[in-house]
Amino acid sequence: MSILPPTPATLAQAAALLRAGKLVAFPTETVYGLGADATQDRAVAEIYAAKGRPSFNPLIIHVAETAQLDPLIIWNDAARRLAEMFWPGPLTLVLPRVPDAPVSRLASAGLPTLAVRMPAHPVARNLIRAAERPLAAPSANASGKLSPTTARHVAESLGDKVDLILDGGATQVGVESTVLDLTTAHPTLLRPGGITKDQLETLLGPIREALTDAHAPKSPGMLASHYAPEHPVRLNALEAREDEALLGFGDDRSVKGGLTRLNLSPTANLTEAAANLFAMLHKLDHPPHKGIAVMPIPETGLGVAINDRLRRAATSLPAG
Ligand code: TXA
Ligand code: MG
Repeated sequence: MSILPPTPATLAQAAALLRAGKLVAFPTETVYGLGADATQDRAVAEIYAAKGRPSFNPLIIHVAETAQLDPLIIWNDAARRLAEMFWPGPLTLVLPRVPDAPVSRLASAGLPTLAVRMPAHPVARNLIRAAERPLAAPSANASGKLSPTTARHVAESLGDKVDLILDGGATQVGVESTVLDLTTAHPTLLRPGGITKDQLETLLGPIREALTDAHAPKSPGMLASHYAPEHPVRLNALEAREDEALLGFGDDRSVKGGLTRLNLSPTANLTEAAANLFAMLHKLDHPPHKGIAVMPIPETGLGVAINDRLRRAATSLPAG
């Protein structure tokens, strides 16, 4: 891992690393982000591996221009007005995802929505422009640790798990972006942050707070609101029934059955399995299959997060 000041040369180097599927930490106006090319499943899987998160929380997609979002999200009037007023800046908007948006399904943890924002830091925006990709970026700290506001914090928290850290000095805002859900009937504040509720209400009128409003459709616990498959998911399957699809892991040659068979990772590589998880579930979650049988996945490393999502998928009902 190296820590470098942002120059045209180091930005080009960072962009090349990102396009090659590597992780680059960069300053935003709020906190440092751990960035990966949002269009590559494998690169996004490396983010979760580096942070050591026990579950796949959906990530924020960072862009440098609003036009970059046109193929990714479905705009509405409120989103346009908020973007015009507060971007670039510490506001994240949750919007419906364009069904075939070129963003990893792992980045949005299988949800039909995407959280997007345009950061105000020039290094962040120059990096996104140089990479010519939207960047998925959670705060650049190990799971359960404080969000980093300096390059040194990132290095202490993530060490060699990040390939390059662009050092843009201390971040200005210091707290994360405000997350506002615009997919609900009324705008819902999912996370307070750099843009205040008052600032948003000036533009939108009353906003619900997921944290305090009992009538809000999403509680913080449901914030990690999860992928709900149409069809039942059966875990630790050692064979598949005639009307089921088989989602394999590792060597599946001795496993019988399955109308369709996909394999998360024939070589039993957990990073590859994480990268494929939501894309493959999505592919198998419609007729002619009546269910998805998933082979056992070890409860180690990224397997913990994979099993967490599969268990939620196995017990949830389809979203209404
Ligand atoms: O300031 C920030 O937002 C920083 C910098 C790096 O941009 N990023 C950041 O990312 O804080 P992260 O991954 O630590 O937090 C993302 C938040 C989480 O609360 C997550 O649940 C929410 O955004 N989120 C992401 N996608 C979502 C979605 N589709 N629906 C609802 N919430 C979502
Ligand atoms: Mg965070």
